[in-house]
Amino acid sequence: MKIGVIGGGQLGRMLALAGTPLGMNFAFLDPAPDACAAALGEHLRADYGDQDHLRQLADEVDLVTFEFESVPAETVAFLSQFVPVYPSAEALRIARDRWFEKSMFKDLGIPTPEFADIQSQADLDVAVARIGLPAVLKTRTLGYDGKGQKVLRNAADVEGTFAELGSVPCLLEGFVPFTGEVSLIAVRARDGETRFYPLVHNTHDSGILKLSVASSDHPLQALAEDYSSRVLKQLDYVGVMAFEFFEVDGGLKANEIAPRVHNSGHWTTEGAECSQFENHLRAVAGLPLGSTAKVGESAMINFIGEVPPVDKVIAIDDCHLHHYGKAFKVGRKVGHANLRCVDQATLQAQIIKVEALIAE
Ligand SMILES: Nc1ncnc2c1ncn2[C@@H]1O[C@H](COP(=O)(O)OP(=O)(O)O)[C@@H](O)[C@H]1O
Ligand SMILES: [Mg+2]
Repeated sequence: MKIGVIGGGQLGRMLALAGTPLGMNFAFLDPAPDACAAALGEHLRADYGDQDHLRQLADEVDLVTFEFESVPAETVAFLSQFVPVYPSAEALRIARDRWFEKSMFKDLGIPTPEFADIQSQADLDVAVARIGLPAVLKTRTLGYDGKGQKVLRNAADVEGTFAELGSVPCLLEGFVPFTGEVSLIAVRARDGETRFYPLVHNTHDSGILKLSVASSDHPLQALAEDYSSRVLKQLDYVGVMAFEFFEVDGGLKANEIAPRVHNSGHWTTEGAECSQFENHLRAVAGLPLGSTAKVGESAMINFIGEVPPVDKVIAIDDCHLHHYGKAFKVGRKVGHANLRCVDQATLQAQIIKVEALIAE
């Protein structure tokens, strides 16, 4: 089976690493000459709106999926005429726009921060008066790794901020005084069967994910699964979806969804029976889902900007290096380490060792 992937970054690369043993082949559509997934399949180097190359991709593959949510809606609509595309155009439409996303949470009775649609500085001033400060202004589309957003703490922060974010449609959200951030990785098959990985605790630095630790018997697991199930059913979703939540007042508030494999699920490569990457491919290909059970205690640490010396990373016990083969650049995700240990005490000790290596 040949899978077409829109986007050729590290998520595409890891999909191919998981799908190749299942006998799958891959083609990646990505305009970047140095797309790091290209090492693992065919690289169609073209813009996402290039209909000749989209047609070529559709002719060559059995189905198309994607590794980022900002794929233009027209690209998905065009491809869908010729080849199955999973997840659906509708799932993408909702997940790529924070206004649609939060409106859906509200309609489904899922708690979420207070929010308002912002089309002008005047809208922002009105919304700040209603929601209060602190608050977070985010562009409705195209934001990632904390880009395209600004925390507003006082009146001076509010002034001129709409223009600062590019005078594009935005969302204002109430600032959530969260005690923690967790994410749930779910996979839903074509027949509706749904499985969940254990909740993951996430720590961010300047908006970029730094550390994910998989939990055991998290008290909010059932609640997170309930909220997530509502979304998956509503969208008749197929594939892996990630749900980011704030932990607050002993409950959860939904932050955002990602209609794809997710950084906070990378630990599943060594830490679960079947990884998020393999399960995504199983789901979109109409194959039976794999077990989401955790194997040992797991964590993932991102390498941002550079990967420490390979020999030093792999010299750490229980440590599995994932190097994306990308050029090193400040603020860029270029690799990660997965730790899989026999118990929590060992895991915490090994996390400290990897963090010390990053700080060297
Ligand atoms: N409403 C909020 N209240 C408090 N912190 C927030 C809020 N929205 C975002 N953040 C912080 O910023 C991070 C990135 O925001 P997010 O909306 O997840 O955007 P991205 O698409 O960049 O991941 C979150 O993980 C969280 O730490
Ligand atoms: Mg996020």
